[in-house]
Amino acid sequence: MPFVVFEGLDGSGKSTLIQGLESRLTAKGHKVVVTREPGGTPLGEALRNVVTTIEGQAPTPKTEALLYQAIRAQHVDLVIRPAMEREDWILCDRFRASSVAFQSGARGLREEQIEWLNDFSTGSLQPELTVLLDLTVEESQRRLQKRYSENDGSLDRFESEAAAFHERVRASYLKQSKVPENKDSWKVLDSSKPPEVLLTELLETPFLKQKGI
Ligand SMILES: Nc1ncnc2c1ncn2[C@@H]1O[C@H](COP(=O)(O)OP(=O)(O)OP(=O)(O)O)[C@@H](O)[C@H]1O
Ligand SMILES: [Mg+2]
Repeated sequence: MPFVVFEGLDGSGKSTLIQGLESRLTAKGHKVVVTREPGGTPLGEALRNVVTTIEGQAPTPKTEALLYQAIRAQHVDLVIRPAMEREDWILCDRFRASSVAFQSGARGLREEQIEWLNDFSTGSLQPELTVLLDLTVEESQRRLQKRYSENDGSLDRFESEAAAFHERVRASYLKQSKVPENKDSWKVLDSSKPPEVLLTELLETPFLKQKGI
């Protein structure tokens, strides 16, 4: 049943930290489901491909918001809720806070409307812990460039947005982490630290300690 979400800019180290926590949980004998948004189901992965790489006429902000929510509804119904029922650990790369950060913070849609859609698509499901990997836009761009120069890929539609777009995403994440109701359910890590340090700091979170991790 523990449902942990990882949020942050592209290249902030979400996948790296998820791997670290997954190894730790598996070593302790837990069943772990690692999943991601947008994606997580065959339909969701197909739509991810559309939404991140479409060329020509881009989706409008409202269309984009709804595509992400459609992906989320499928993911919650077919992957997350069943895993919760089995009492597996769920480590999810991006979830509802990403919609608030990208569609509201960066694209300018109204936050309460995005949260309404988040509640609709998830049946008002909230993660028990949201880990925010906070990093400057400059450093996240540096890491992405490094990855692509090593692996021969290219930036997707979001990764190639201007720095100001990513600054708004980052600011929205930080704002969400400071909402008083989120005090115990959000953990903000300074992602400029090395991966081992981040894992150690994550494991100090009261939620994980209480679970004996
Ligand atoms: N704490 C860290 N310090 C320095 N470099 C890191 C750290 N964590 C990850 N990296 C490196 O930065 C790059 C991005 O890391 P990672 O793929 O984990 O980020 P991500 O948030 O999952 O990115 P994306 O959103 O694009 O999937 C990788 O090359 C990774 O090796
Ligand atoms: Mg990743």
